[in-house]
Amino acid sequence: PVSVYPDQHVAAIKVANRIADLIRDKQSRGERAVLGLATGVTPIGVYRELVRMHQEEGLSFANVVTFNLDEYYPMQPTAEQSYVTFMKENLFNHVDIDMANVHIPDGTLEQDQIHAYCLAYEQKITSFGGLDLQLLGIGRTGHIGFNEPGSAPNSGTRLVTLDEMTRRDASRDFGGKENVPRKAITMGIGTIFKAREIILMAWSGKKAPIIKKAVEGETSSDVPATYLQLSDNVEFVLDQDAAASLT
Ligand code: F6R
Repeated sequence: PVSVYPDQHVAAIKVANRIADLIRDKQSRGERAVLGLATGVTPIGVYRELVRMHQEEGLSFANVVTFNLDEYYPMQPTAEQSYVTFMKENLFNHVDIDMANVHIPDGTLEQDQIHAYCLAYEQKITSFGGLDLQLLGIGRTGHIGFNEPGSAPNSGTRLVTLDEMTRRDASRDFGGKENVPRKAITMGIGTIFKAREIILMAWSGKKAPIIKKAVEGETSSDVPATYLQLSDNVEFVLDQDAAASLT
């Protein structure tokens, strides 16, 4: 299903409320909530609202386990552009999550360690009972996570090569495209699909063309997000501008 909201602020609050309900529901049953998280500008409003709920309404993250979608490779966790830094600044530093429950792909591995690491990342998700809810943004290439065009629907966590458009879109964060890493470690389409609930968010007219393809286009590895059409557990949460080209 597709939900369209008047603006991204309203939409972000809806998504944050869904996450908070899940956390509280699990908490009331003495269980953990297992969240798949995304970085980028799209989810920032969701994280801001979750932080507000923690600070003003006592929403606790003590029972929350998180797995991030992706990280650049190579990348030091302390670097300004790392997704570790992003997650700390936008969420983890401001809530009561146990950092031992936080998982973000490791951008510091040697090449020959990556394969085993990626398998272990999958197994770790499984060991927590799988993802209850996966948050997604969408890149202009149609990527989800860093599953660029050509990604297989059953792909798992792995090392991938970033698309040129993705590196161009990231160039501002890195002070030039030449500084953007060429690779990343990302959960696969198959990993994302196993989540019991998937929320893909997109805001602004910049995303309207790719949202049209993702929601209405033919399913194809040329636009990896089209695979989401095959899942019954996906909600596309859009603002009016991102939804503008939908029929
Ligand atoms: C981030 C991620 C990416 C972004 C996408 C959109 O963890 O996996 O797929 O969601 O590139 O980025 P923004 O939100 O910056 O437009």
